[in-house]
Amino acid sequence: MTTPSPRPRLLLVGGGGGLVGRSIVEEFAPDWAIRSVHRHTTPNEALPGIETVRADVATVRDWAPLLEGVDVVLNVAWYRTGPERVFRPLADGLGRLIRSSEARGIRRWIQISVPDAPASLEARLPYLLEKRRIDRTLTDSALSYAIVRPTMLFGPNDKLLTVMLRTIARYHRFPMFGNGEYHVSPLAARDLARVVRREAAGDARHTISIGGPRRWRYRDLTDRMFAALGRRPRYVRFSPRGSVRLARLLESLGSSLLYAYEVEWLLSDRLGLPPYEGLDPPLAPAEAFLDREAARLSSRARARGQHI
Ligand SMILES: NC(=O)c1ccc[n+]([C@@H]2O[C@H](COP(=O)([O-])OP(=O)(O)OC[C@H]3O[C@@H](n4cnc5c(N)ncnc54)[C@H](OP(=O)(O)O)[C@@H]3O)[C@@H](O)[C@H]2O)c1
Repeated sequence: MTTPSPRPRLLLVGGGGGLVGRSIVEEFAPDWAIRSVHRHTTPNEALPGIETVRADVATVRDWAPLLEGVDVVLNVAWYRTGPERVFRPLADGLGRLIRSSEARGIRRWIQISVPDAPASLEARLPYLLEKRRIDRTLTDSALSYAIVRPTMLFGPNDKLLTVMLRTIARYHRFPMFGNGEYHVSPLAARDLARVVRREAAGDARHTISIGGPRRWRYRDLTDRMFAALGRRPRYVRFSPRGSVRLARLLESLGSSLLYAYEVEWLLSDRLGLPPYEGLDPPLAPAEAFLDREAARLSSRARARGQHI
């Protein structure tokens, strides 16, 4: 009888509870061992082959025990917003992890980063300054790495397309930021997980900026959302400056719906990235996801005796 070969082990930093993490667990759990490090336990990690370690990346001093037996490190941990005092300790913790990985000769390191942003944001936003600092620590290391910079992601319970669709379903209208002529190419979080698998097997030291299969003009995408809900598009229009002001107002009221930097980024027309090539089956289109989510919203509303 032959002994089954041991599964490769992934150190999933940031864990399987977030949007990307959930897809990574789905993609890797069938044939990898996963050691998942993050702060909260999540039900989707209660699977054989997943070892969960409850820890804050910012406070892990010694990564050596967590790197024991690890083939590939993948980092998805990040916050959506916050001041420097929030991002800096997390980035410092990731820096310690990169150095420890280097010292132990970890085979491959994958970092989920973000696309280029307007220079004014790159120069002042802790979210970006600290992200770029980690990316540089990785490129300056001797590790074999892929820095994957996806554009906006979609998947069940995402904070972008799903929230936009729910807003349209609820209010039957939607804010239009500027003229809507800028572009986006949404990528399925599940496809990002397939990209990570492919990159984990490779050895190119590179940084890739990737999008989904279709580059949409933003207002065509929002029109398509109205269509998915069986509605005629109705917009409340804001100038570019007014759009950023609106997002700032929401922020100041404690809303996490939308952040001003996200609106500036969108308006800068940097999010219509080209697709990642070479996956089989090909990248999933956003349309099918929107139609499924719209059908779910409609049937939920019907069950409550409402219609959307
Ligand atoms: N969503 C997008 O459209 C998008 C687009 C481009 C790039 N990205 C990048 O993709 C990555 C994942 O994004 P996401 O949308 O999946 O985010 P998410 O849903 O917020 O997940 C982030 C995960 O990081 C973990 N985490 C945060 N701080 C941590 C800390 N100090 N220690 C340990 N774990 C920590 C959180 O788990 P716990 O709360 O349990 O600790 C959470 O599960 C991020 O780097 C993000 O910048 C996302």
